[in-house]
Amino acid sequence: MIKNVIVDCDPGHDDIMAIMSILAHREAFNLLGLTTVNGNNLVDRVTDNLLKVLTYLDVDLKVAKGYDKPLVYDADPQIAHGESGLDGPVLPASKFSVVDMHAIEFMKQMAQTHDKITIIALAPLTNVALFLKTYPELKEKIECITLMGGSRSSGNILKRSEFNIYADPHAADIVFKSNIPVIMSDIEICLECSTDHEMIDGLKGKGYVHELAYAILEFFSQYNRKRNKDSSPVFDLVPVMQMLHPELFTYKKCQVDIELEGVHTRGMTVVSEGENCLLVEHLNDRTLYNQYFMEDLSILEERYSSSR
Ligand code: RIB
Ligand code: CA
Repeated sequence: MIKNVIVDCDPGHDDIMAIMSILAHREAFNLLGLTTVNGNNLVDRVTDNLLKVLTYLDVDLKVAKGYDKPLVYDADPQIAHGESGLDGPVLPASKFSVVDMHAIEFMKQMAQTHDKITIIALAPLTNVALFLKTYPELKEKIECITLMGGSRSSGNILKRSEFNIYADPHAADIVFKSNIPVIMSDIEICLECSTDHEMIDGLKGKGYVHELAYAILEFFSQYNRKRNKDSSPVFDLVPVMQMLHPELFTYKKCQVDIELEGVHTRGMTVVSEGENCLLVEHLNDRTLYNQYFMEDLSILEERYSSSR
C-alpha cells in the first residue's frame, strides 16, 4: 500500500542515496516533500545540496528548509561529508528553490491535508521534535517515524553515540517520548547492510544517474577505503530499504532512552526491555539487500533516459 512520506534530511551523501531509492518506488511512496535541517552541515548548505541533486535528476519536489541549530547545543558541522556537505559529485547550479514556509509549517500542512503520514528521519531530529511540540494535536496524523539513528553498543561521533542523536539529543528525547511508533535503524544494522566497494566501483560508466551515485558513494566510502575495509555503511538508505523490503530484517521491541549530556555519553541511546521503539535488529540477506539497492539505481537510470 502506498505511503504518504516526508523525508527529513541533511544531505549528506547517504541521505541522497536514500532519497534516490524513494524516488525509484512511486508504487510504494507518495513523496509529499522533503524538509532539511542542520546536521552534517549548516542548513543552508544541506538545502542547497538537495536542490542541486534534484536539479541534476530533473525532479521537482517540495523542499522546506528547517532549523539551523539544535534545541540546546550548538551546530556542529561534520567533515565526513566534505566542506560542502556533499563533496564528490559535480552538481549543476540549482534551478529549483525552497517552498515559502518553514519545515514544521510544511509538516503541519501535509498532516492537515492527508490521512496518515510517515516521517522518514535521516538527520538530527530538531525539525521533527519541534513539529510535534508545536502541533501536538497533529501527532495522531503521524503513522510512524522511521529513523536512522542511535546505536546498541557503538558510536560514530563518540564511543557510544551516533551522530544524528548526538547532534540534538533533546530533540531525540522528545521523539522517543512522543508515543508515536518509532522504528530505529541504528549503527549496528547499518553496518550489517554495508555496500561493497567493488559494487560501488561498478557504478562508474553505467549512465547519467549511476555516475551521480558513483561520485557520491566513492567519496563517502573513502573513510573506510583508507582503513582497508571492503565495504561502507550507507546509513540513511537502511530505513528506506526496511520500508521497501521488511522481510529482509528481524525486529525487536525495546525501550530507548536518550542520554542528554556527558563528555563520553551525550546522545547515547540506552536500549533496554520495553515498548517505545521497534529496533531493526538484524539483516537476513546482505546480497539481496544490495541487489535491491542496485536495482533502484537502474530504475532511475531507465526513467531518466526514457524521459529524454
Ligand atoms: O550517523 C549517520 C548519520 O549521520 C546519517 O544520517 C548521516 O547522513 C549523518 O547525518
Ligand atoms: Ca543524514
